[in-house]
Amino acid sequence: MLSGGKRVKISSFIPSALLALVIGSGAFSQTAKEPGSSVVSTSRNKDWDVYLGDNSRSHYSTLDQIDKSNVSRLKVAWTYDTGEKGEFEANPLIADGVLYIPTATRKVVALNAATGKELWRFNPETERPGGGSTRQRGVAYWASGDDRRIYTAVGSYLYALNARTGQPVRSFGQNGSVNLGAAVKREGSDAPAHVLVNAPGAFFRDLYIVGVSGTPGTIQAYNIRSGELKWIFYGIPRPGEYGYLSWPPEAYKFMGGANSWSGMALDEVRGILYVPTSQPNPTFWGGDRIGANLFANSLVALDAATGKRLWHFQGVHHDLLDRDLADTAPVLLTVTHNGRKIDAVAQGNKVGLLFVLDRATGEPLWPIYEKPVPQTTLAGEQTWPTQPFPSAPPPLMRQRYTEDDVSNISPEAHALTLQRFKLDVSDGPYPAPSLKETIMFPGFDGGMEWGGSAVDPDGNYFVNLNEVPWLLQMAPTRRADGTPLSTASMGERGYTNQCSGCHGLDRRGDPAGGFPSLLNVGKTLTKDQVSRFVQQGGGRMPSFGELPVGTRQSIVDFLFGDEQPATAHQTEPGRGGGGAAGPGRGRGDASAPYMFTGFRRWFDAQGYPAIKPPWGSLNAVDLNTGEIKWKVPLGEYPELTAKGIPPTGTENYGGPIVTASGLIFIGATADETFRAFDKDNGKILWQGKLPFGGNATPSTYMIGGKQYIVIAAGGAKSGRPSGGAVVAFSLP
Ligand code: HEC
Repeated sequence: MLSGGKRVKISSFIPSALLALVIGSGAFSQTAKEPGSSVVSTSRNKDWDVYLGDNSRSHYSTLDQIDKSNVSRLKVAWTYDTGEKGEFEANPLIADGVLYIPTATRKVVALNAATGKELWRFNPETERPGGGSTRQRGVAYWASGDDRRIYTAVGSYLYALNARTGQPVRSFGQNGSVNLGAAVKREGSDAPAHVLVNAPGAFFRDLYIVGVSGTPGTIQAYNIRSGELKWIFYGIPRPGEYGYLSWPPEAYKFMGGANSWSGMALDEVRGILYVPTSQPNPTFWGGDRIGANLFANSLVALDAATGKRLWHFQGVHHDLLDRDLADTAPVLLTVTHNGRKIDAVAQGNKVGLLFVLDRATGEPLWPIYEKPVPQTTLAGEQTWPTQPFPSAPPPLMRQRYTEDDVSNISPEAHALTLQRFKLDVSDGPYPAPSLKETIMFPGFDGGMEWGGSAVDPDGNYFVNLNEVPWLLQMAPTRRADGTPLSTASMGERGYTNQCSGCHGLDRRGDPAGGFPSLLNVGKTLTKDQVSRFVQQGGGRMPSFGELPVGTRQSIVDFLFGDEQPATAHQTEPGRGGGGAAGPGRGRGDASAPYMFTGFRRWFDAQGYPAIKPPWGSLNAVDLNTGEIKWKVPLGEYPELTAKGIPPTGTENYGGPIVTASGLIFIGATADETFRAFDKDNGKILWQGKLPFGGNATPSTYMIGGKQYIVIAAGGAKSGRPSGGAVVAFSLP
């Protein structure tokens, strides 16, 4: 769904020398900073001072000291321990010899980037209690003369820190921070929303622009120095705005989603911001949001100066499958297409499709076709009839689980997988939600994931993929005895609607998949702790700050087994505003006739993915020609390799980087290994052990003539051991 594009004037503030440099080198420009800012770039020092390398999110470095001939000698230079456990997934920034990284609990530490020695630590608890959720993928560094700052978000608050001391800059916002929730109040409510930021934003002129997850998602731009709100873009359009008609009339008041949480790319010269957005909420029941649901699952190009929409591309219409397009950040690059240089934007998705568009107009480089997809039979739902598929490049992974994909790693796994395959539906990348169990392949976690992709100046694109099958099933909201859950206790109903998708209808969760059982939650946590956790979220657990207090309390009572009988008041639709929504229903309303039964990976009896390998892969695509260059497994299970099974790949989270010397560095795997690949053919040239899984995107930088590669190693994904190491490698 493309709409007319509009060209934007090249911004006038960039000095002409720098402009020539930027235009000449396409995406691989220096970061355009404010006039007068110091750009440290000598032959002996080279920084990585922007999230994922630059605002193109290219994951690319011009450094070449470590190359194909010497990478095999790479050794650990230093290791730093944050002293924490949990999802530690940040891409470190390095500026002027200092490394900045947010920890698993949203502290920020500054280290001497040559030695790993701690310089300072910012603990947000000293500013206000309550840490906020984990999974902070990075911070933003800004410098103007002597004024050097780190921007970091904790819970609903955006802080500006003095980069030398780690102390809040008190002139920013209110005493050093801004409440990002203040701008996203729901109609009829004065309370600031609870919001979250996972990935840092981008600086444009005097603005810091950041993607904010909340209900609904917003993009917000603040004055860098004062913290004053300058513009806001709503992921769900309001009356009169473009896209409003793609929802029922009142939906903007109570629907959520369209969050931009994995990072946005910025073309500084054109002044265009590229915003990927998530699925709408409720995720799996769309009967109350009939329509295409713009700007959910879209790549939206915004005028970075004003927040006005220039064009958009919706990658999934009326999503019912959590095919979150924000799962992977877009990347800007320059390609040669039909003999012409084109500045492009490449947006991957969770089913392994890659859409390549002209960055100025949104026109696809290769035609995108709307193809029919399976239609649901669930009463009240209206599946969108088609979904977009690019004519090139080809899908980067298998698009359907066929009999040929049945696991072949052992006779037992083969027999078991074949049996289930024959019982289940397998319907390609956009299966219809159904009461019958359906093979969800590509799975819920990729294709492409939040680690993102790397591109080089020659138009090559590198990305890791997950190729693990999952299962999809919907269930009626009536119990087996026919009683509707809407007459059940408020707590049970609330639990079923809000929590069972992840923690299971039976509350047993999926501990292997990282969803804890809540059966004995009272043994380790108090009611207050659970209530606060539900309100604020943490780790992969979303925040439920928008739930009415009464609903939250009754869910907690239900979990602790001592819920009071429902009163008339409590059986009102659960979500605040749900009643005001006319015929529509909010997420908290159990009158939705069907619900999702939970995120389930499909494993064999030994716990391996129930599909023929690869289970995880690294891929190279030539975006000049639209052809896949190579595909190799990423990661291995040593015990399977020992049996003579070729490397299977593992589930992987965290992205690659690519260097001018032709190397790709990536951790991400479930085998606690960091690897260097030859970008020309996918051969492994080096691998080193990490103390915990490197579920993060690495960075590379040069200090005093020595090149380092550094990665956060926190494990915690896919049920692996967890810690909080930062590990830097260099040549001895
Ligand atoms: C989208 C998936 C998802 C949903 C929906 C969800 N949770 Fe969670 N929850 C998680 C995950 C994942 C964790 C583990 C958090 C971590 O440490 O990363 C968790 C952890 C928890 C914990 C802490 C358990 C422990 O032993 O530490 C509690 C309590 C909890 N959830 C309650 C709830 C309640 C109540 C709801 C509904 C209001 C809910 N969750 C909805 C995914 C979810």
